[in-house]
Amino acid sequence: MTKRKLGPCVTFFPQPTTLVSSVDAQGETDLMTASWVGIVSKTPPTIGLSLNQSRKTYQNIRETGCFVVNMVPASLATEADYCGLKSGRDEDKKLVTGLHFEPAEAVAAPLVTEAPLNVECRLTSEIDLGEYRLLLGEILQIHAVEKAFRSEGGMDALAFDPLVYLGGIREYWDLGQKVAQAYKEGTKLFQTP
Ligand SMILES: Cc1cc2nc3c(=O)[nH]c(=O)nc-3n(C[C@H](O)[C@H](O)[C@H](O)COP(=O)(O)O)c2cc1C
Repeated sequence: MTKRKLGPCVTFFPQPTTLVSSVDAQGETDLMTASWVGIVSKTPPTIGLSLNQSRKTYQNIRETGCFVVNMVPASLATEADYCGLKSGRDEDKKLVTGLHFEPAEAVAAPLVTEAPLNVECRLTSEIDLGEYRLLLGEILQIHAVEKAFRSEGGMDALAFDPLVYLGGIREYWDLGQKVAQAYKEGTKLFQTP
């Protein structure tokens, strides 16, 4: 496979498209798009979120110690992109997008109603990466859309219809096709049964 070197950059995909909801000390909600987000530990369940220090969202999380990571469905690509282009310092993104909010169970930051998955997090630590900060959040509760649950057990990925972000080439995609079952497909290559 012939390849080109890209040098030290941040081209890597796929990434999730998420909307992070947060509140400031006055209880005012902000919403920002984040793709540098991922699960980093199972015990305790922890999510990592990398934020530029200039974000209003970063300031909010520092003030109130919590945030919610909301999965973005493909149908909300326009709203999500907008929330990544404008700061809550300049615009009321809740008003412009028309998205709805509901109280979380364990944190002050609200859930985005239209998101099929909401992850409630308590800020536990912060790693200095220069201009960016890696925030670690303990997951206190997750809300998953009811229609995703199959009667025979398990969850239907298409009910979430997550918007996928291709960082580096700046494109949004939908999930596409299921290819294989994780933790099972690889057993085809096991040498001993
Ligand atoms: C697809 C996409 C992904 C983004 N991911 C991040 C991210 O992971 N971290 C970050 O600091 N900014 C990210 N941004 C930029 C912020 O969303 C943007 O600066 C936003 O205006 C910040 O809003 P706030 O000031 O209201 O917090 C992303 C933007 C887009 C469009």
